[in-house]
Amino acid sequence: MRDVAAVVLAAGQGTRFRSDLAKVLHRAAGRSLVGHVLAALRPLDLGQVVVVVGHQADAVRAEVDASGVADLATVDQTEQRGTGHAVQQAVPALADGIERVLVLPGDTPLLISDWLERLLDEGAGHGGAMLTTHLDDPSGYGRVLRADDGSVEAVVEQRDATPAQLAVSEVNAGMYLFDRARLTAAIAELDDDNSQGELYLTDVVAMHARDGAPLAATAAPADVVAGVNDRAQLADAAALLRRSHLRHLMVEVGVTVDDPASTHVDVDVEVARDAVLRPGTILEAGTRVGQRAVVGPNSHLAGCDVGPDATVESTRATDATIGAHARVGPFAHLRSGTRLGESAKVGAFVETKNATFGAGAKAPHLSYVGDATVGERANISCGVITVNYDGQVKSHTTIGDGAFVGCDTMLIAPVTIGAGAYTAAGSTITDDVPDDALAIARSRQTVKEGWAARRREAGQG
Ligand code: UD1
Ligand code: CA
Repeated sequence: MRDVAAVVLAAGQGTRFRSDLAKVLHRAAGRSLVGHVLAALRPLDLGQVVVVVGHQADAVRAEVDASGVADLATVDQTEQRGTGHAVQQAVPALADGIERVLVLPGDTPLLISDWLERLLDEGAGHGGAMLTTHLDDPSGYGRVLRADDGSVEAVVEQRDATPAQLAVSEVNAGMYLFDRARLTAAIAELDDDNSQGELYLTDVVAMHARDGAPLAATAAPADVVAGVNDRAQLADAAALLRRSHLRHLMVEVGVTVDDPASTHVDVDVEVARDAVLRPGTILEAGTRVGQRAVVGPNSHLAGCDVGPDATVESTRATDATIGAHARVGPFAHLRSGTRLGESAKVGAFVETKNATFGAGAKAPHLSYVGDATVGERANISCGVITVNYDGQVKSHTTIGDGAFVGCDTMLIAPVTIGAGAYTAAGSTITDDVPDDALAIARSRQTVKEGWAARRREAGQG
């Protein structure tokens, strides 16, 4: 489809969102609204994608640049004078060789490639095409007016419609395929003679009918073309996106999801065959879960890579890598930069940050391991703390392969515990410990025989 370009309209503020953030940057199921539209375009391999930016242009430009869509350009619409005005800014940027132009809103995150392909097919034999949908409550949308022969005559906006027109349930989805030459001529004719004083792209629909080349109109399901104009619609769209992604994971990939209603999985999350997602699990963008891994109940992961056969129970983790067969939780907090090797274990009430655990290394309970390298099979006993911060700088702790760090050891970084070395329980380790040594760093116990009895006799408790 190299002779087709898409123009995505993303310059509006989205007044009905009541937000300081441009509407198209709000996220649903882990992706921005405009990002969803661009994702639907990606498989079509179009010759060019032009995104019209205006409100918070720099932020929107950064977002669309990160979408990975090829041959993408942005144009500025500094004053938002309507959808027709937005297209007027885009048309001069179209490349040579572009003959047809898809125009899409930037606020329709449910859009899928299949329906864009339908639109391209429908438009092929016609001067152009548009998508419509039927709604029980059409309020807010432009109504589609058809002639007696069924052809589309015009679209009339809610605020300009007569009571009879308002009763029409077929609405404009705002998604069109135009012939480039016809579109270029039509937008030059637009005026702002309407209730909002804007240049309406919808007037181009009537111009096609007037010129004897009405747009072919195809009705799509409402849950594909619905626009998101306020926060309630944002929540509805996000729920639909998550549900359909979970369905894909269950039916097409082979993932067990115990309770889809309480499992939130963003659209960009990959989960492999025979993995299990237990109730109350939230998997945010950038997370990947390997085969047969069990995540949850109640785990919340963002940007994490979970290896095959790992278990991650009641855990919060961000930007962490969890190796194959590793066991995490319950009640672990893996912060950014945590890397757990194969069969490593991080157990209850353990917090890790910027820490690498070798294969089989363990911190089973109640520890803080930050800015650390933990060797293979090393054991970090209950209550160990890497004392990594002196109030000014962060320092590193290195624990060798097979080392045994005794309970309640404070490791005052920078410090190294050699391979196979031990630290005695309750030690505060300030100096490096050689391989295979035992370090004891605590004061010797003193026992005062009869001390308590004497105190009681003296009447002091
Ligand atoms: C528009 C259509 C309406 C249709 C509905 C479908 C017009 C006049 N109306 O209405 O018939 O039923 O979409 O969702 O086209 N935008 C710009 N620059 C502007 C104005 C808008 O880039 O000057 C962008 C917005 O950022 C948004 C898109 O265009 O992504 C649609 O704008 P919006 O204000 O949401 O249009 P609707 O009122 O929903
Ligand atoms: Ca809209």
